[in-house]
Amino acid sequence: MSKIEQTLSIIKPDAVERNLVDEIKNIFIKNNLKIKEIKKIQISKDEASEFYKVHQSKPFYNDLCAYLSSGPIVAMVLEGENAVLFNRKLMGATNPKEADENTIRKLYGISIDKNSVHGSDSVDNAKKEIEFFFKN
Ligand code: CDP
Ligand code: MG
Repeated sequence: MSKIEQTLSIIKPDAVERNLVDEIKNIFIKNNLKIKEIKKIQISKDEASEFYKVHQSKPFYNDLCAYLSSGPIVAMVLEGENAVLFNRKLMGATNPKEADENTIRKLYGISIDKNSVHGSDSVDNAKKEIEFFFKN
């Protein structure tokens, strides 16, 4: 069964820094995900800590929040059929070394922390994450 969903995508600092924004956007567009909203911003470490608070007990939490706030990022709302899981599929595994061929993380990811993109992992989290970046 297919359903139209929205999901939050973030192009992380490592990919923005390497001028990969257009290439990554084109992967979404070619795969019929519509970019409904987009903005380039830099968030504070406190904001990154709020965004990633589900990971607060993890050993990598501090570094993760420092990293996400270390430079400009591009946040996007993607819309399409089964967008949440479909975007996760386009992204590939968290660790670029384990990601399938032609996924964004396989193509562009540098390491498990500098893995180029974030994508919501459920419809509920997508709603919260979209609100986080695009509340008026
Ligand atoms: O991003 P994804 O949902 O695939 O992975 P996650 O388990 O929700 O972890 C969030 C982010 O934390 C990852 O994208 C990595 O950038 C980072 N991470 C890390 O630095 N070291 C790990 N061992 C696991 C995740
Ligand atoms: Mg996650």
